[in-house]
Amino acid sequence: MKNEVTPTLRWNGSAKDGHLKMIDQTRLPIELREMECRTVEDVWEAIKSLRVRGAPAIGVAAAYGVVVGLQSLPECTDRTHFDVRLSQVCESLASSRPTAVNLFWALERMRRVAAGASDLSSSALHERLLAEAQQIEQEDRAMCAAIGRHGAALLADGQGVLTHCNAGGLATAGDGTALSVIFAATAEGKKLQVYADETRPLLQGARLTTWELMQRGIPVTLICDSMAGWVMKEGRVDAVITGADRIAANGDVANKIGTYSVALLAKAHNIPFYVAAPSSTFDLSLISGAEIPIEQRPSDEITAGFGRQTAPTNVNTYNPAFDVTPAEYVTAIVTERGLIRPVNRETVTRMLTPTTARQGVP
Ligand code: MRU
Repeated sequence: MKNEVTPTLRWNGSAKDGHLKMIDQTRLPIELREMECRTVEDVWEAIKSLRVRGAPAIGVAAAYGVVVGLQSLPECTDRTHFDVRLSQVCESLASSRPTAVNLFWALERMRRVAAGASDLSSSALHERLLAEAQQIEQEDRAMCAAIGRHGAALLADGQGVLTHCNAGGLATAGDGTALSVIFAATAEGKKLQVYADETRPLLQGARLTTWELMQRGIPVTLICDSMAGWVMKEGRVDAVITGADRIAANGDVANKIGTYSVALLAKAHNIPFYVAAPSSTFDLSLISGAEIPIEQRPSDEITAGFGRQTAPTNVNTYNPAFDVTPAEYVTAIVTERGLIRPVNRETVTRMLTPTTARQGVP
């Protein structure tokens, strides 16, 4: 099983000369291969190209990216130079992808550690930053497990569950968010039938979610995104559960493009629509989902996905990678602290305060 044998990402060695190792998710499901990131450019490229992806995993990768990025400094660098380089590295990593707030949350944690350790030498601070990155990874694992525990009761034996994109172990340092709920319910002995949307254009559902569920022996049926409504109409789906990339203070949820359509379909068929996400995915500095930056990706992901041209040369395209589901369509949000239900500004604030969520990062 992937998560017992090959972790999604891990650190090897010391702060000074270690490196980040991660599954190259662009090769799945054909090939399970790990890659090494030894420079901040490697980490930036891995995030940008979705070799590592999913909001929590992006945050963990970025934290380790800071450690890698500081390795180019000479041994006896003074703190001023160290701090300048730290800023450059954080700014570079922050430019990789805009939507998943976990990236900015993790970078801010790293910056705060440095700001609070003015007495440490550069090399001692470098080790301290590695410890912080490892702490972020461990916390993420624990948050996944807690999300599974809190969410399992939402799913009943014999139910059909639809998910979109991949919010599993590949998207986190642990067992995932949405899939953690499915794993936990299954561990309680419930038999579930999962429907995985293929998730155009990059096929995270087809390539990654089905792969993870099959590794675990959980029945999964792959459907095209356009089939979700009909599958619901046929009565095959009792619940929908997805992850999130950023949740605004009012409970609006940004997640993989197509999630909004699924939420509307669930509403039309009177099916509960659940979101599973750790507190690190909440952005209380944003009043509503309208303020969430939506990543735009290259047109060839639509016109020539996976190397085969499927549309006329030079056709106009529009390729937003995420959409925003208004809170009113979300039945409940499963966090590591418990369930937010109903989802609105008051219930989000109550669950997240005092909070480790991001507050006011520009
Ligand atoms: O573009 P991706 O693959 O990084 O998008 C991932 C998602 O939308 C996930 O659903 C989200 O990050 C939650 S992962 C626990």
